[in-house]
Amino acid sequence: MSEVRRERWNTRLGFILAAVGSAVGLGNIWRFPYLTAEYGGAAFVVVYIFMLFLIGMPVMVAEFILGRSAKKSPVQALSQPGENNWSGLGYLFVLTGLGILSYYSVIAGWALRYSLESLRGYLLNVSPGDYFAEIHSGFDALLYHFVFIAITTGIVLGGVKKGIERAVKILIPLLVALIIGLGIWAFFQAGAYEGYSFYLQPDLEAMFETYTLNLFGMSVSFPFLALGLLGAAGGQTFFTLSLGMGAMITYASYLPGNDDLMKKTIIVSFYDVGIALLSGLMIFPIIFSFGLESEIAESPLGTLFMAIPEAFSQVENPYWGGFLSFVFFFCLLLAALTSAVSLLEVVTSSLMDELNMKRQPAAAAGGFACLLAGVPAALSLGWLDVADQIAGSFLLLLGGFFLAIYVGWLMKGTLDELTHGLEWNLVVAPWHFLIRYIVPVALLALLTNFVWDFSLQLWEWLGGL
Ligand code: PHE
Repeated sequence: MSEVRRERWNTRLGFILAAVGSAVGLGNIWRFPYLTAEYGGAAFVVVYIFMLFLIGMPVMVAEFILGRSAKKSPVQALSQPGENNWSGLGYLFVLTGLGILSYYSVIAGWALRYSLESLRGYLLNVSPGDYFAEIHSGFDALLYHFVFIAITTGIVLGGVKKGIERAVKILIPLLVALIIGLGIWAFFQAGAYEGYSFYLQPDLEAMFETYTLNLFGMSVSFPFLALGLLGAAGGQTFFTLSLGMGAMITYASYLPGNDDLMKKTIIVSFYDVGIALLSGLMIFPIIFSFGLESEIAESPLGTLFMAIPEAFSQVENPYWGGFLSFVFFFCLLLAALTSAVSLLEVVTSSLMDELNMKRQPAAAAGGFACLLAGVPAALSLGWLDVADQIAGSFLLLLGGFFLAIYVGWLMKGTLDELTHGLEWNLVVAPWHFLIRYIVPVALLALLTNFVWDFSLQLWEWLGGL
């Protein structure tokens, strides 16, 4: 069979917007604020930014290098002739993509429903807690999950230039403008200052824990960063930058050969962190201004879907409240859509490369698989939570660990590929050191911590001893 020419991005900006679109998603507007609230406000933000530099950005560079040099989807990129065959890792990526999309689209479905209900004014007249309880699972959730997957599939069907690139060029600027607009509105609310101070002042007690070691009968106590916080920040770094499941490998495979990969990593990470921080600046003032801070800790998963509509229902003019609520959930929907597109693109491009399928049937098959995979999460909130922990944290960290080993130690010509188009050669050696030593060790520690924590949780569910 003759080789079909690989699709390409139309412009440099197109690639950047698509990668930013993948990175910016529910992770920024939904997961980041609730983790921040759970782990002591700014303490979490500081650790998270530190992790981003230490492990997140080096892995993004590694994914870009692998994708651009192979010009293939992850499974084939990891089994190039003359290299070690690590196609198993590629299959793990596809599985992780399906796993994430399976619950991601359920939450995005809620956002779709909330934006429609805000528009028609219904959301403001009901008790948000009861409403959320009614629609978060069951037939309602299934229906909106289906609709969201159908929209995502529609964009992926259009291809790299006409589908993905065209969509992100409109959606990303719109998203940024809307979040800034809401942030400005929140700034003028009465209790905004309390929200900012919770968000921006590190709570040192939440940041550190005192550990006690028993050594030869002597017990030594020392303070160290809280392990729970470290684990959450590490998982969030991978989730929010879309790392560890091949999305960035796939997007980089549509790049021409001579772009500066380091610069691209910096730009994408900068936007991603910027939008997460900005979402915090919008959400915390809203929550504190309307006295809803106790709700954050109660149900992390549901915070946005309960506290935010409640806040907007207290706005004096109901039309204005409805409109603001619509804008908020529409932002969530847009952000989720451009990320879901990248998740489905990994599945689609793998089917195209592996089974020699054309784009349309591959995207349709991938979309259908996602429809089915999402059914359990649409029926049970408990399942959704576990899927988020396993696919959205553990499998990403695991994928990132093996990827760092592959690109850092096994792949040939890694540094050559990186230096193509690179402006600032000074960064090559530090990157190489990070990806070979620091990233694998840090990820191994995070994985161990995760397995330990998860076993404890499982133990509790099973009723302990
Ligand atoms: N980065 C996305 C977000 O923050 C989620 C995602 C994870 C997308 C992994 C693609 C791959 O919502």
